[in-house]
Amino acid sequence: MKRIGVLTSGGDAPGMNAAVRAVVRYGIYYDMEVYGIKRGYEGLIEGDVERLYRRSVGDILQRGGTILKTARSAHFPTEEGMEKAYKTLNDLKIEDLIVIGGNGSLTGAKVFSEKYGIGVMGLPGTIDNDLAYTDYTIGFDTAINTVLDAITRIRDTSSSHERTSIIEVMGRHCGDIALYSGITGGAECVLLPEIDGDLDEVYRKVAEGIGSGKLHNIIIKAEGVGIETDELIKMLRERTDRDVKLIVLSYLQRGGSPSFRDRMLATQCGMRAVELLKNGIENRAIGERDGHIVDFDIAEALEMTRGIDYDLYKGVDVLSM
Ligand code: F6P
Repeated sequence: MKRIGVLTSGGDAPGMNAAVRAVVRYGIYYDMEVYGIKRGYEGLIEGDVERLYRRSVGDILQRGGTILKTARSAHFPTEEGMEKAYKTLNDLKIEDLIVIGGNGSLTGAKVFSEKYGIGVMGLPGTIDNDLAYTDYTIGFDTAINTVLDAITRIRDTSSSHERTSIIEVMGRHCGDIALYSGITGGAECVLLPEIDGDLDEVYRKVAEGIGSGKLHNIIIKAEGVGIETDELIKMLRERTDRDVKLIVLSYLQRGGSPSFRDRMLATQCGMRAVELLKNGIENRAIGERDGHIVDFDIAEALEMTRGIDYDLYKGVDVLSM
């Protein structure tokens, strides 16, 4: 009877539970024993593992977060940490490990696999959308919808007070949350870590909006941007006659019931992971390309790069004229 493990690692993301559910139920369907590892790699090191059954993943599809809990582990990348992690799997005779997480988590899985020969599967679980091998990561769609809801609410009050609102979003070093929410939320400006910010350009855009009669201005600022928010606020307050407010969405973007798209992506990635393992295929990173579920060699997947979509970036400017 094949034994597989599943863990969630790094920042949690809406849809992780849907992926865990698919892994467990498809694993049981293919006569595997599925073991849930708590708190990511920390739990693996500590042996915090429990057998999961079909009822273990009941009533979680719609829930954000992860029933397995998650963590960022500084211990795992160390020799001692990986040794302990390997011992946990070896003692339980777990042959393969499914890791649901972001860039760092999947990279850890690859290194672990190369060092100990454990089969791994990587599922892209992060709101950041910063894994280039897949068009979308699990959690990104829900996070975007959360930001769009916030933008809609902020537009109301910004119009009432004729204010400029700066909305800071997550994404670590990736600007996709800012870019995609900016263009679909009708922002005048998006500030992205991938593109050097220009205070004069921001001023021009806001001044143009005020001059054309806009009742409010919305600027979406990704957290990884080099411009200091205080400097941006000061500049706008000095050079325009509008008050400026900052709204940091922070962890709101990490919670909430997963959207249809995230539930679908998560479920299909979980299904694919188990089916590949059933067929003796391992060390793959699973994701979506052009609407289809795909899998790549995990090392090759993690080498892939993807820049910002400059057509969308330009679209923000044109569409907010
Ligand atoms: O990786 C997801 C993410 O939400 C990033 O966008 C953000 O910078 C980071 O996690 C925050 O990390 P933590 O939850 O450890 O504070």
